[in-house]
Amino acid sequence: MTVLVLGGAGYVGSHAVDILLSRGYEVAVVDNLVTGHREAVPAGVRFYEVDVRDKDALSKVFEQEKNIEGLMHFCAYSLVGESMEKPAMYFDNNVGGCISILEVMQEFDVKHIVFSSTAATFGIPESSPISEKTPQKPINPYGESKLIMEQMMKWQSEATDMTYVALRYFNVAGAKGDGSIGEAHKNETHLIPIILQTALGKRDFITIYGDDYKTADGTCVRDYIDMEDLIDAHIKALEYLKAGGKSDQFNLGSSKGYSNLEVLETARKVTGKEIPSKMGERRPGDPDELVADSTKAGEILGWHVQNGLEHIIENAWKWHSSHPDGY
Ligand code: UFG
Repeated sequence: MTVLVLGGAGYVGSHAVDILLSRGYEVAVVDNLVTGHREAVPAGVRFYEVDVRDKDALSKVFEQEKNIEGLMHFCAYSLVGESMEKPAMYFDNNVGGCISILEVMQEFDVKHIVFSSTAATFGIPESSPISEKTPQKPINPYGESKLIMEQMMKWQSEATDMTYVALRYFNVAGAKGDGSIGEAHKNETHLIPIILQTALGKRDFITIYGDDYKTADGTCVRDYIDMEDLIDAHIKALEYLKAGGKSDQFNLGSSKGYSNLEVLETARKVTGKEIPSKMGERRPGDPDELVADSTKAGEILGWHVQNGLEHIIENAWKWHSSHPDGY
């Protein structure tokens, strides 16, 4: 039986492929290589360069991969700022891709899908930490596109015998422990990679976006989840569905928040570098604090966070310092 990893050449997907293989799963990968990297997928893995919106091409993959036990779906655009500038592109790629995937799953009678959703579906939450009961009110097209995808999955699972798990990631960071795969975006916007690029001297300084938030030190607070922990949740979710578990949604974070200044200090400690920084203006659309309540994932999936912020930054540093220009 095969796990078909959609978006398996991307940052999260490539780590899923790696950990699935290390746990003895058979894996095949679909990726259009728009943001993914062919080098991130091991040479022996069956690889299809296909855009999931291309239903005919995706059907051909399902024809060839006869024994698909489930899908992991990671292919989506995922930058909040970009989504504010190009909403239609986000809905076309994220929602359009999901339509095609659900249709092909139904056609080929594939029963299970684990899919990446996001804390961005919650918008600016009324309370913290954020549980599955917190109302979802996205404030940008990226979050809205993922919420629509969740709803499409819900209706599809009610209408057919397909089951799904939506995993709402908080701030994913980290890399494989040997530094061989990691985060490589063309225009990096995320805090930890930018801090580490500064540590490498690729940037002169990091700008911290605002220190007048309603938090202890005035900088935004986020909940960082380690890549290995994140993929472990996907595998537990797939096994849960295979064992007959019902469709569900889970918030995935460490349930502990770190301010941007705390992340910077931790990176200084881990790298031993000075990492020059400047305080800047707020970035539009940043909520003060986003921290997950992941109790439900613990209760139902048996998932518990193993790794903390230092471990996350240590592994990310191994990747960035050995691949300063990405793949
Ligand atoms: N930040 C800086 N300087 C930078 C980059 C980021 O101060 O150069 C700050 C941001 O303002 C924010 C924090 O670091 O306060 C984290 O920002 P990221 O861009 O790393 O991550 P976000 O919290 O904005 O977004 C992440 C994912 C999104 C997802 C969201 C859900 O990247 O895909 O979490 O909460 F939607």
